[in-house]
Amino acid sequence: MRMHRKNNLEERLLRCTDVAPVMGVPDRNLKRLLENYREYLDLAAIFGNENPVFLELGCGCGGFCIEYARRHPEINLLAVERMSNVIITALENAKKAALPNLRFLNIPVEVLQCYLKSGAIGRIFLNFSTPLPEKTRERQRLTSPRFLNIYRDLLPVGGEVWQKTDNQAFFEYSLEQFSLHGFRLKNISLDLHKSAFAAENIVTEYERRFSDMGMPIYRLEAVKE
Ligand SMILES: C[S@@+](CC[C@H](N)C(=O)[O-])C[C@H]1O[C@@H](n2cnc3c(N)ncnc32)[C@H](O)[C@@H]1O
Repeated sequence: MRMHRKNNLEERLLRCTDVAPVMGVPDRNLKRLLENYREYLDLAAIFGNENPVFLELGCGCGGFCIEYARRHPEINLLAVERMSNVIITALENAKKAALPNLRFLNIPVEVLQCYLKSGAIGRIFLNFSTPLPEKTRERQRLTSPRFLNIYRDLLPVGGEVWQKTDNQAFFEYSLEQFSLHGFRLKNISLDLHKSAFAAENIVTEYERRFSDMGMPIYRLEAVKE
């Protein structure tokens, strides 16, 4: 889907640096960046405490992370999104919400290890990640083996990935990949909105869209072994 570039995007991003400790990557070659560049974030300094840090990957316009941070002041949340044109909405809304436990990284998930140390993250949320059904794009799916490697590095043993999607084929693919790559699955639902998980669920922008079309929402928890 092509999106219009938002008006005054650069100036607007600059006004949000207080909520985004990383705004863009210093090299467009992600492989080279991952091999050569380390700029670890001081998470205790960023959040002003030692509370657990959770990640949301592909946060889009930020509906989920803003509401999660509001409901969970005891958790620090880092929301990751590579598209500046999309994350700007999340940044501006987060600034208005003035949540000290929510910060953003405007980077691709591929290079998270340049900024975060092994075991630094307690839980990862994957909300309606792009399913990318074409076989040739499998490597870009956020539950493909190379991304699960990154998550295994960032999580301690017992750390979790919580995933939601409307796409059955992507869900089945994810179940298989998690179980093949060092994760134990639990709390699976094939119809989240009709399950016991609905009470605590925060509906994301994409989730609202699919749910309004009558589609069931799939969810899982994958625990690092
Ligand atoms: C389908 S949208 C879902 C947005 C939001 N999570 C929701 O549920 O409404 C997927 C988002 O993930 C982002 N994304 C996809 N791959 C990414 C990657 N490798 N790194 C960072 N963001 C990514 C896209 O730019 C897009 O904003």
